[in-house]
Amino acid sequence: MNSTSISAAVTPQPLFITPAEVCSEFSYHHPSVARINNGGFGCCPSSLISYQRQIQMQWLRQPDEFFFNQLQPGMLRSRNVIKDLINADHVDEVSIVDNVSTAISIVLQHMAWGFAEGKFHSGDATVMFHCAYGAVKKSVEAYFVRAGGYVIEVPLPFPVNSDDEILQEFRQALDKSKQNGRRVRLAIIDHVTFMPTVVMPVKQLVSICREAGIDHVFIDAAHGIGCVDVDMKQIGADFYTSNLHKWLFCPPSAAFLYCRKSNQSSALHHPVVTHQYGNGLATESSWIGTRDYSAQLVVPKVLEFVNRFEGGIDGIKRRNHDAVVDMGEMLAKAWGTQLGCPPHMCSSMVMVGLPACLHVSSDQDSWKLRTYLRDKFGVEVSIYYRPPKDGEVGPLTGYARISYQVYNKVDDYYKFRDAINQLVHDAFTCASLPDSYIRLV
Ligand SMILES: Cc1ncc(COP(=O)(O)O)c(C=O)c1O
Repeated sequence: MNSTSISAAVTPQPLFITPAEVCSEFSYHHPSVARINNGGFGCCPSSLISYQRQIQMQWLRQPDEFFFNQLQPGMLRSRNVIKDLINADHVDEVSIVDNVSTAISIVLQHMAWGFAEGKFHSGDATVMFHCAYGAVKKSVEAYFVRAGGYVIEVPLPFPVNSDDEILQEFRQALDKSKQNGRRVRLAIIDHVTFMPTVVMPVKQLVSICREAGIDHVFIDAAHGIGCVDVDMKQIGADFYTSNLHKWLFCPPSAAFLYCRKSNQSSALHHPVVTHQYGNGLATESSWIGTRDYSAQLVVPKVLEFVNRFEGGIDGIKRRNHDAVVDMGEMLAKAWGTQLGCPPHMCSSMVMVGLPACLHVSSDQDSWKLRTYLRDKFGVEVSIYYRPPKDGEVGPLTGYARISYQVYNKVDDYYKFRDAINQLVHDAFTCASLPDSYIRLV
């Protein structure tokens, strides 16, 4: 036997998850529905749902023992896994919360106290892009504006061709606020915007904030981990939150909030106050009263799941990105439209222009079309209305946001393509749909 054949004989081949196993993990998904909206609610494989159930049963079998011996060590293990995944300095910088909405409330409540305690003054501002998530805007209204703050909304160019277009808009808005003598206290920046979806140049945006003297920079990365690169040292924000149930396969619901260690971080508190108040946000967040903590305890097992895929979470992310761009280009070609941004600005989601003859002319139209696609064609996809700009001739006003996750198949996107082609063939317009097709979900 020569040396080559010896090494071939002894080198163990990694046993990656097979396509059949992936199918089996998600076989409980509705079989006749094309789920191309992973960005909406995420997904969880059967094996992790079973594991979560085991944790729930351990709790139910002997709650006292679980509470005193298992819960806190388990939460710490989850926080450590996240700390390593996001390259944070210390596990105390990582709190586990229910979802990004909770994390946003924690940060905004902290900002409101800045006004109450005289650190900020009436008229001090927060800056965010106009496409910030609706719940974020409401949180800004509920905490920041109510406390006396002012909001600067920066338009996100869309369709967008380069990071520079975004950076330029942001710089201009900050320059204008400076000329007006306004002090900006907080910047809220999406890592991956919700709608329309674009990967933002977060690192450069954080640097611009620092140059402008903004000392609270908060990244809303609801679609961050599992979808884009998430490295706290590279990004350099003060606060960064990501859901774990959207793109990291956690059962609903779990998210983390990273707060960079500083002399102000001990002033952050969970809005649900318990005996743990004052013991640091991470400890406060790990006990917010009697409830089900199982989704948050599953995190180490999630890592085992993603590591069954070639390249782990980075491999999944890369393949999802490449596949969603391919599918987006296939759809754009079929409909004679284009993508909303170049591939390097797409994550595992992409915006695809819809045929203009559908006449998506309002937010209501986009909801009607989305509901119609679900009810009549079994396609789950988000639809976006992009208002035309003044003087623009023949812009695309309707876009679909498609996602790609490991369970998706090319047929899901063919089904969507054919549904739209059918509507075009039937000379359907959104205006012709009955109002019963508006449903807020
Ligand atoms: C950008 C963005 N921020 C915040 C959220 C809220 O996430 P959750 O509902 O998990 O709190 C979402 C949800 O899709 C989102 O897309």
